[in-house]
Amino acid sequence: MNMGKSMDCDLNHAAGPPPGHDRLESMVLEPLITRDYESRPDMVYDRLRRRYGPVAPVDLLGVPVWLVVGYREALQVLQDDTNWPKGLQNWRARSEGRLPKDWPLGPSLEVNHVLIQDGPGHRTLRTAWDAALRPFQDPRQPEARRLKTAITGYADELISLVARGGRTGWADLSAQYSRPLPLMAASHLLGFPGSQGDDALMDMWRVLDAGSDAAPALERLLGALAELGAAKMRAPGPDFPSFLLAAHPGISLSELSRELMLILGMVSDHVGVLISNTVVEVLAGDGSARASLSAGMIRDMMNRVAMRKPPHINLAPRFPPEDVQLGNYTIAAGDPVWVSVAGAHTDPLFAKSAEGDAVVSTRAHLSWGAGPRQCPSRELASTIAAVAVSRLFEHFSGLELVLPADQLPWRSSPLMRGPRSLPVRYSVSDAYPAAADAAAPEPGTADTAAGPRRSSLWRYLSGLVRSR
Ligand code: HEM
Repeated sequence: MNMGKSMDCDLNHAAGPPPGHDRLESMVLEPLITRDYESRPDMVYDRLRRRYGPVAPVDLLGVPVWLVVGYREALQVLQDDTNWPKGLQNWRARSEGRLPKDWPLGPSLEVNHVLIQDGPGHRTLRTAWDAALRPFQDPRQPEARRLKTAITGYADELISLVARGGRTGWADLSAQYSRPLPLMAASHLLGFPGSQGDDALMDMWRVLDAGSDAAPALERLLGALAELGAAKMRAPGPDFPSFLLAAHPGISLSELSRELMLILGMVSDHVGVLISNTVVEVLAGDGSARASLSAGMIRDMMNRVAMRKPPHINLAPRFPPEDVQLGNYTIAAGDPVWVSVAGAHTDPLFAKSAEGDAVVSTRAHLSWGAGPRQCPSRELASTIAAVAVSRLFEHFSGLELVLPADQLPWRSSPLMRGPRSLPVRYSVSDAYPAAADAAAPEPGTADTAAGPRRSSLWRYLSGLVRSR
């Protein structure tokens, strides 16, 4: 065991690792995903940091991995793509056939899209992604304007549907608003015809939640996306798949489907979590979040929420090509190193900055990643979430959490963190047109820019409306 690194440990990192072997596979490891992790993750990160230092060996659903919970070490890994490359082919245990066949995270990693890959293939893909997202992220472009109008319309439709339960009532804002709204946005971006997007999203949720049905869901999802990709190859439109094809004409249909799966997952899931987390922050906060909303500072507020409650908590693994020192350990070549954004944000070195003791600027948070592989879609994600949150607080004069924020049920995913449900008591604003209730489309009948209204989604959402 290598203890030499302790000299640059700060107080927080002072504790050394317990006796044991350096080889990850021969260590006795504590499981990361436990009830404690689900309900009080910050306490778990602190415990890991006290016990092991900034890099902790943990058992991730049956697979040994290194979890980086130190801010400085997280940044070191993220900023150096050469010495900390991604790419599953670099994973020693995988090459040696030591990963369990039914490992729940297998399906989401094995898809091997731009988020997972490394090398020249990644560079080509990343350049194409940047080009394909540009029309939606540049507010001067018609695609960006159309998207914003569409999201505003979707938000209003969903609010009208909630209000069918009465002008005051109860709702689950996660199931009835923050999850479906980005789905509708994703359908728009993908240029999905009709209701096919609904089924794809339901499958996407299954893959991300890494449950026992993740593998068949992934197969169905890739099939649906391959069909969509083939349609866009025949008849391109003003949508993400067509722009990606234009920027990367050599991409094969199966590669394209993998990238479409990523955008569907990112938009529908990550953005949904950001919306929910922002709503919780406004409703449960000390009033400063609400004040930022009224002052039109929603982007700033969103940045603060992303920092305090990162939606994407643990990042896909990196693998050092050679043995290397990180924290208190020597990481063997080909070991999986997971940067925990949420863990690094609890490192006192970073956390103090959020309290105004500015060792590190709050702009230096890692919720969008860092270095050459940071998120290319921050503007798009923030726009969707900002429209969603402002529409909600415009149309509801009263919104109150039914449970204290710390008792909300949280999703137990090793990749994402957000409320599983968001029960609220609401009152529709007086200014909200009474006619809006009548104007809400009958389930399955309205048309949108993305095609005829998604009937299965709409049926599902209508079933959630609670009458008083
Ligand atoms: C709240 C929403 C989002 C958050 C918090 C988020 C966060 C992140 C983070 C932390 C990374 C870095 C991953 C790493 O270094 O391993 C990343 C990468 C990425 N994100 Fe996002 N993201 C969000 C939304 C989106 C959306 C909506 C899209 C697509 C439209 C997207 C597309 C990507 C892609 C393609 C990468 C990989 C970049 C690369 O490896 O070169 N993200 N995102």
